[in-house]
Formats: sequence, structure tokens, C-alpha cells
Amino acid sequence: MRSVNSSVMWKESLKDITTEYPRSGLCHLPTPLERMPNLSRKLGGVNLFIKRDDQTGLAFGGNKSRKLDFIMADVLDQKADSVITWGGTQSNWCRQTAAAARKLGLKPILILFKRAGLPTECDGNLLLDSILGAEIRTIELEQGKSFMEIRAVEEILKTVVEEERRAGNNPYIAPIGGSFQEGSMKKPLGAICYVDAIREMVKQAEAEDVRIDYLVQATGSGSTQAGLIVGAKLFCPQVRIVGISACEDLKTISRFVDTITRRTFEELD
Ligand SMILES: Cc1ncc(COP(=O)(O)O)c(C=O)c1O
Repeated sequence: MRSVNSSVMWKESLKDITTEYPRSGLCHLPTPLERMPNLSRKLGGVNLFIKRDDQTGLAFGGNKSRKLDFIMADVLDQKADSVITWGGTQSNWCRQTAAAARKLGLKPILILFKRAGLPTECDGNLLLDSILGAEIRTIELEQGKSFMEIRAVEEILKTVVEEERRAGNNPYIAPIGGSFQEGSMKKPLGAICYVDAIREMVKQAEAEDVRIDYLVQATGSGSTQAGLIVGAKLFCPQVRIVGISACEDLKTISRFVDTITRRTFEELD
């Protein structure tokens, strides 16, 4: 980041995220934008900051609380009483979805994929999922198979949804990572929340009198990066977004991010 004096140009024409998209109020915002003087020095004088999205609340925080703030409002709007989602056995998304559902008095159902050869102990997020009282289905994942898109879980989802309906419940299918516009989520809410996060961060940077050049973030299911790309384009076009893929190869993750980015631009007009 570099010091600047210019003020932020807000795009008034875009749909106002704060009024167009209801929130559930589950996320602790704004998160601090914190200087990292020691690491900055160690890295040779860059001006490094960290956006503390680990402090967003919901069973230890993380980027998913921002998404769930919007998605859970959609869940309530659809009058669902259970939330079904999926991910790896140590998925942060699943842990935070379970916490969000419980907080709103809803039933979380997690379909968790276990990769062959990985430990089976009930620890970390898996332990938290069970403490949070999530209903858990564990499935072995075939070697080399990705579970990122809804096609990969169609069969089991169908069974779980049928079971829920038979029990008299109205289930909401939340896409993995809150990312793709699929299942019960009809808008790219997982990215829209990060358009708003950019707006929040740019205001904070302006208050610190710094200009952001690069934003480096972890990418998994793609909507955090998509939202940041759209947000940067709108509010701070000089910022280069650098995503570091936590699981998929470059070609696959680029496709995810690209699809969600386009959808988000369309959604926000
Ligand atoms: C802590 C954390 N940061 C970043 C990401 C990436 O977010 P996204 O799934 O939106 O790409 C994930 C999930 O994969 C995560 O758990």
C-alpha cells in the first residue's frame, strides 16, 4: 500500500448492496484493517496490511461469515427450516454454515467428503460440526474427483432433500463455499458480500491515508475472489487482486472465478 490523498470515487449507479440485498446480521462488521509493521520490514519495506476477516464471528470466523450474512437472509426469506450443504471433512464453509444455521434455530445437514488416505479423527472443523449439532453424512471421494459443482453431489442431495421433505421440513440447498449460483441460491450472494467488503476496506484505507496496490487472498470455491475483482473494478481499479488457489489447478479455479465474476457484474447491472 502507498500513501495517497485522493478520495474514493463511489459508483452511485450500481445497485446499492446495502439496500438491495437483505442480511441476517450474523457477521461482525467492519473487520479491522491492521498494519503489519514487522512483516513489512522483514519483506524489505513493503507496506503490508491485513484485513482481519478471521474476526467475522460464527464459530471462529472467516470469510464465510460475510457470505452467510446474505445467504442466511435468503434462507429465512425462503422459509426454510433446514440447510443442506457440502464440502471436505475439514471444510471451513461447512463449519460456519452449521454455526449460522444453529444461531437461527435451523437444522444444518452437512455432506462431507473424505479423501482416501487422509486422517479420520474427529478433530478440527469436523469436531466443531458435531459440537454444533450438525447432521453429518460422510462419503468417500473417488481419487481425482472434484466435489465443487452440484453435479458431483446430485444423487446424495436428492436423497437428503427427499428425507427432509418426508419429515415435513423445507430444506435450502446452499452451494459449496456459497459460491456458484445453484441449489436454492438464485443470486451470486457469496460474491456480492465481497464487493461490499472492498467498499469497507477502501474506506478504511482512505482513513489511514494509504492506497492499496495489491490484494492477496486465498481462493477455494471462487466467489471471494470474484467479489473482490468486481469490487475492485468499481471502487479501486488500481488494485490488483492476486488469488492463491488452496485446492484446484489454475485452469479450473480460473473458470470458477470467471463464471462467478461475470454473473456478479450482471447481477449488479
Ligand atoms: C479461510 C478461507 N479463506 C479463503 C477461502 C476461499 O474462499 P472461496 O471459497 O470463496 O474461494 C476459504 C475457503 O475455501 C477459506 O476457508
